[in-house]
Amino acid sequence: MTAYRADLLSDTLTAPTEGMRAAMAAAPVGDDVFGEDPTVRALEEEVAGLLGHEAALFTPTGSMANQLGLRLHVAPGQELLADADAHVVRAELGAAAAFSGITSRTWHSERGRLEPEAPLGLAAVGCGQYQVETALVVVENTHNFGGGTVQPLEAIRRLRHETVDIGVAMHLDGARLWNAHVATGTPLAAYGDEFDTVSVCLSKGLGAPVGSVLVGSAAAMAEARVWRKRYGGGMRQVGILAAAGRYALVHHLERLADDHERARRFAEAVAEAAPDVVDPVAVETNIVMLDVGAIGRRPADVVAGLAERSVRTYASGASRVRCVWHLDVDDAATDHAIEAAREVLAAP
Ligand SMILES: Cc1ncc(COP(=O)(O)O)c(C=O)c1O
Repeated sequence: MTAYRADLLSDTLTAPTEGMRAAMAAAPVGDDVFGEDPTVRALEEEVAGLLGHEAALFTPTGSMANQLGLRLHVAPGQELLADADAHVVRAELGAAAAFSGITSRTWHSERGRLEPEAPLGLAAVGCGQYQVETALVVVENTHNFGGGTVQPLEAIRRLRHETVDIGVAMHLDGARLWNAHVATGTPLAAYGDEFDTVSVCLSKGLGAPVGSVLVGSAAAMAEARVWRKRYGGGMRQVGILAAAGRYALVHHLERLADDHERARRFAEAVAEAAPDVVDPVAVETNIVMLDVGAIGRRPADVVAGLAERSVRTYASGASRVRCVWHLDVDDAATDHAIEAAREVLAAP
């Protein structure tokens, strides 16, 4: 339980609901390392189906799902390409290099929005012994540090068309792909079709307490299963956790639209008071980035001012404050956050 009247720190904060806890308690389980947990198997089948892939693998975290995906495609000494603000390069603590000997090169973008020309301009293939070989492009959808930005399907398709031609694989960090799907109505499989592997998180907007899923071909998932065990991620009667994810897919997917609506309402109200701080049109999903540097304010001061008013947020870089909507932020909490933000941003 949060101590804040509006806890906008992250969509990972949600507590399991009563219904979710009941589903967890009732879940049939078995030893998943032996492939015998029926609830995990059902979740893996469901998620693979939703994303149009052959097979899936349940993992404890999104970082592990991503890291398994990356190592499937990139050999030690090869490189991946990703947006400069991508979670895989900014927030997984160097795991691709530390675990898999992968180097990374990055491109810059406006709010994380994918422009296929950027990775294509960096890609180096057929370099022999002279340059690092590009093996993978990673796309993040929605883009977290970009501010919940939805990647246009058309841009993804153009990138896929070109990377297939040059033999470069594509991995989707879809921790919040659910939000992109609900915001645009684009079927999950339409995104899934364009990637070799996709990771999705159950523990963000969907509200499960733990868990992510990696999808790909049956052969790729068999290999990922071996590496998951090697990383210490082979879990036993873990159907009680998979049950939370299955419950969330039925009960918490479509309601992400409520988070999007509240985030947009907050942004519109803040923009009325401080137009340079946020453009509501840029708020596509559940994340609002306030550019407080644009009015000469320091993120840490704004975060502290909001915290004094019982609103928790996150200072992101030198200029921005991130606010994230989720299952445990309702209309009243949103109204409270609006009042607090108006006060704090109006203060000299
Ligand atoms: C875009 C993105 N990918 C991956 C992750 C990793 O998820 P986890 O915290 O479960 O490792 C996060 C977590 O915030 C994320 O925002």
